[in-house]
Amino acid sequence: MSDAVDYAKRGEIAVITVNSPPVNALSAAVRDGLGAAFDKGQADNDVKGMVLLGGGRTFIAGADIREFGKPPQGKPFHDVLVQMENSSKLIVAAIHGTALGGGLETALCCHYRFAVPSALVGLPEVKLGLLPGAGGTQRLPRLVGVQKALDLVTSGDFVPAPQAKELGIIDEVGDDLLEGAVAFAEKLVAEGAPLKKIRDLPCEAEAGVFEAYRKANARKFRGFLAPWKNIDCIEAAATLPFDEGIARERALFTDCVTSPESAAQRHVFFAEREVAKIPDVPKDTPMKDIKKIAMVGAGTMGGGIAMNFANAGIPVMMLEVAQDALDRGMAIIERNYANTVKKGRLSQEKMDQRMAMFSTTTDFADIGDADLVIEAVFEKMELKKEIFAKLDAVMKPGAIMASNTSTLSIDEIASATKRPESVIGMHFFSPANVMRLLEVVRGEATSPETIATAMGIGRKVGKISVLVGNCFGFVGNRMLHGYTGEGTFVLEGGALPQQVDGAIYDFGLAMGPFAMGDMAGLDVGWLVRKAKAADRPSNEEYGGTIPDRICELDRFGQKTGGGYYDYKEGDRTPIPNAEVQAIIEQVSKDKNIARRDFDNDEIVKRCLYPLINIGAQILDEGMAMRPSDIDIIYINGYGFPAYKGGPMHWADAIGLDKVLADMKRFHAEFGERWRPAPLLEKLVAEGKSFADLQAA
Ligand code: 3HC
Ligand code: NAI
Repeated sequence: MSDAVDYAKRGEIAVITVNSPPVNALSAAVRDGLGAAFDKGQADNDVKGMVLLGGGRTFIAGADIREFGKPPQGKPFHDVLVQMENSSKLIVAAIHGTALGGGLETALCCHYRFAVPSALVGLPEVKLGLLPGAGGTQRLPRLVGVQKALDLVTSGDFVPAPQAKELGIIDEVGDDLLEGAVAFAEKLVAEGAPLKKIRDLPCEAEAGVFEAYRKANARKFRGFLAPWKNIDCIEAAATLPFDEGIARERALFTDCVTSPESAAQRHVFFAEREVAKIPDVPKDTPMKDIKKIAMVGAGTMGGGIAMNFANAGIPVMMLEVAQDALDRGMAIIERNYANTVKKGRLSQEKMDQRMAMFSTTTDFADIGDADLVIEAVFEKMELKKEIFAKLDAVMKPGAIMASNTSTLSIDEIASATKRPESVIGMHFFSPANVMRLLEVVRGEATSPETIATAMGIGRKVGKISVLVGNCFGFVGNRMLHGYTGEGTFVLEGGALPQQVDGAIYDFGLAMGPFAMGDMAGLDVGWLVRKAKAADRPSNEEYGGTIPDRICELDRFGQKTGGGYYDYKEGDRTPIPNAEVQAIIEQVSKDKNIARRDFDNDEIVKRCLYPLINIGAQILDEGMAMRPSDIDIIYINGYGFPAYKGGPMHWADAIGLDKVLADMKRFHAEFGERWRPAPLLEKLVAEGKSFADLQAA
């Protein structure tokens, strides 16, 4: 028998335990071990029933994702499942931790399922761009009905054991995993309970249900492949005999597992786990316990950031310059919660609990005992330094002092204190209570403990923390600058905002650069451009002419009723504006550019390749630790489609040689801003990809 599966006996019940840490994924060794263990139980005349459980922290968390795309090894998973389902001795799955994907599919081939109350079950394959390929799409609807099965396979949501019992996925919930499951098996054996095979249950659907489901979710599933294939499989369960349904599921699984979408989503799965690993800040670095925080500034960002902590049950003291600013900030927080209550997504009781986490002050002396203070005042260096000097004076020793600055140097801010090791950037994204991304910015002197604590507390409040270096715009906004900037050059070349935005939307982002600009407000960029005008290198081509002229008309975006587009009161739908078109055409004329047609492919390359090029520069400078960190930033902070895997994975998927060839063409045509990053040139010369860099 393989080491990955243990076989023991409890009286007349064989206990088969999967021991393959950390999550008992169904590797070849596990599949071989299961086959042998069930054979052994079958052959043992003293055994009347069998219990299958996971050793360590969980039941089986699914197929081994690392095996996908590799040559098949070991006993095929389907053969193990058929063997189990056809066993002439009763099998009970004993579930704790998570039974996910292939893990739940294994449990569905047992005759009964026992679970502890804390267990979770689900078919999350869709999140990896897949579908349950081991009978899950054929068995689940037979248990829970077509409608519920559609929701579960297309969302990948986990279901807690008590709810799973109500749905019929679990037969028995009990506290003691091994004892409870063995007793349950003994009882079933004693009763002569039937060997229930889910495959024998009927599966019916009302007419039109699948078409209606596809239509209702078209927007949500836009661009993804897997949700559609999952629906097709459930439809097969309702329309085909079981074995034909299984064959269809297999064929569609192959479509998914070989698709670029799934490759991208699997990359994202591992990238999300890599992001927490910091070579010079090992896992065992001590972290400070953050029991209480202070927020300096209760504006747009301060309020949103504070809500994350209150939501996680961490008390927050808000500090502002004056009482009226505090009152305004708190009223917005309250209104935000009240809106969520109104939409039925939060109970009044929870809202009251969260509001009770807040206290307010205008006096720095009151915040000194916070474990973490986050500053989110106006973006002015002098002001930030003044605030950090004050914080240095009042904060208790060891407190972490973070700035939410989006552009300013963390080192310069830290220089206002005598404890730069405790100073760090925590760059949240707007709206800060919604967006999952947190860029944690390390300064020259930031200590490992400060880094570990900031990363950890970010995760604790539900963010995905990514560690970046201290450079202008850090990682996300520095790259964004190249993207939005190139967009305006495309306008000068002959396209219109709606065409550029349409191409980017079709590519998969939630909106294009101009709709985004109108949402964020065009005035901010205008101010920055004016402030930087004097320092602009003379050989740098200026791309700000169009937005400058739009701003000169006091068109700052949605908040003024118009920017690149017009907006009707209370409606965010962009409406093309003739005056803006005239400005664009005039700028082309002024710059002697002959306007021409663009196709979507060219627009996508022009707007999105700068992300790749700047991403490569950032990697070269060590401002991001690995390409996949950049992908995580772009997916979670800027709406880059997960099914494209983030800009760096996307570049690999296209082929870096092709990307470089286009960039060289653009470089020849448009000049310096398109000079390919040396790292990109190097990778292509060596026949490597960004993924190779990651593996190195
Ligand atoms: N295959 C291979 N490795 C896996 C894995 C899997 N199915 N699930 C988790 N891992 C690895 C992780 O990459 C991580 O590795 P690392 O330590 O080297 O970074 C380690 O196991 C621990 O994982 P987490 O850090 O995610 O641990 P958590 O305790 O936070 O979460 C979990 C555990 C909920 C099980 C989570 O890992 C998870 O959601 N896993 C994926 C579950 C899944 O999608 N299953 C379906 C797989 S596809 C399938 O089954 C196809 C079938 O239908 C044919
Ligand atoms: P805001 O103008 O909405 O809020 C700033 C708040 O700081 C105001 O309420 C102001 O009264 C308060 N303030 C000013 N001086 C203060 C002082 N001395 N003591 C206490 N409070 C003081 O600005 P916003 O948008 O919240 O930005 C804050 C910071 O967050 C800036 O550094 C900005 O660059 C950064 N940021 C902003 C993002 C955005 O999308 N708005 C995104 C990410 C970061």
